[in-house]
Amino acid sequence: MLHDSAVNYFDSTDNIAINTQDKTSTMTQPIISVDSKKIPFQEHHNTLLECIESANVEVHYHCRDGYCGACRITLESGEICYPNGEPLAYVGEGEILPCCCIPKSNLTLSID
Ligand code: FES
Repeated sequence: MLHDSAVNYFDSTDNIAINTQDKTSTMTQPIISVDSKKIPFQEHHNTLLECIESANVEVHYHCRDGYCGACRITLESGEICYPNGEPLAYVGEGEILPCCCIPKSNLTLSID
């Protein structure tokens, strides 16, 4: 497990570790599965939405900051977190707001 004050994410079930500051540690990118695409969440992606957009997957959005709920999608499997705190927009059971979350593990997403 990673231990320092850098931004670390670790998921023991998927054995994924990311350290955004220490380039010498284990760097395994979470893989985002959506439709038939497998998209690596890369270090320069600030949010899950940026990652999805990088693969030209169309996701509705408006505020891009967790207020409007326009980007709401279904998380089929995996874990995410909201690094800036829980968003204000309503999020139903099994739904996430990709504009303000990042993956903690590989994810499978469903976008209507
Ligand atoms: S775009 Fe507004 S909550 Fe995501």
